[in-house]
Amino acid sequence: MAQEKFIEVQHSSKIYNEGQENEVRANDDISFDIYKGELTIIVGASGAGKSTLLNILGGMDFNTHGKVIVNGNNISEYDERGRTGYRRKEIGFVFQFYNLIENLTAMENVEIASQLSDNPLDAVEALKQVSLDKRKDNFPAQMSGGEQQRVSIARAMAKNPGLLLADEPTGALDYHTGKQVLQVFQDYVRETGKNAIIVTHNGMIKPMADHVIEIFDGKVKSDTRNDNPTPIADLEW
Ligand SMILES: Nc1ncnc2c1ncn2[C@@H]1O[C@H](COP(=O)(O)OP(=O)(O)OP(=O)(O)O)[C@@H](O)[C@H]1O
Ligand SMILES: [Mg+2]
Repeated sequence: MAQEKFIEVQHSSKIYNEGQENEVRANDDISFDIYKGELTIIVGASGAGKSTLLNILGGMDFNTHGKVIVNGNNISEYDERGRTGYRRKEIGFVFQFYNLIENLTAMENVEIASQLSDNPLDAVEALKQVSLDKRKDNFPAQMSGGEQQRVSIARAMAKNPGLLLADEPTGALDYHTGKQVLQVFQDYVRETGKNAIIVTHNGMIKPMADHVIEIFDGKVKSDTRNDNPTPIADLEW
């Protein structure tokens, strides 16, 4: 199968207080490629630099050295305004603790995000994809943690983004609910041919991915492709 590159990270570093004695190399000369239509997992221990990397890929932060090319654009050259536009139009982000707006219903939470997009999905359609269309008029406090996380995924998907990013999306969920949430990501890439990147410290979910990038101490420790991802139902941890 011909594989088209979607993301190229070339010698990217994020260094705080560079050259000073309190220098922190949060990302240290990171390079990898991601192909179109991949489900990628970035895995590593606490403090390894995963969120730093994901935030740079999503335009929420910027690197201090190197190139980050997404869909042909070198986003590491973007200024604040460029990053804002990139985030709004091209990125769907899922946070560990959902970050839903408490006084808006599930549907209203999804609609707010879809309004940022030029090509959004219908909010009810997005909720249907996470099997929560019947709960569209509920407020976050009326839903379980797993349901709230699925609403937050619907919110990210409703923008119809080229790139869906998630930082520890199952971190606050139990085993069964975590699996349901991971299934939504796998279905998204399979059904749309778009990309998703999941950051996790849980190495046990690596087999579900098409591509696993292991980060250790700010560096890429391993970069592996998986031709036969394991169905999520068969994963155990
Ligand atoms: N603003 C900052 N100033 C200095 N150091 C920072 C700053 N932000 C992050 N770091 C450091 O960068 C390193 C990587 O942090 P990062 O949040 O990317 O790790 P992580 O892999 O996501 O960890 P976790 O699994 O705990 O979320 C850590 O050592 C962290 O302390
Ligand atoms: Mg983190």
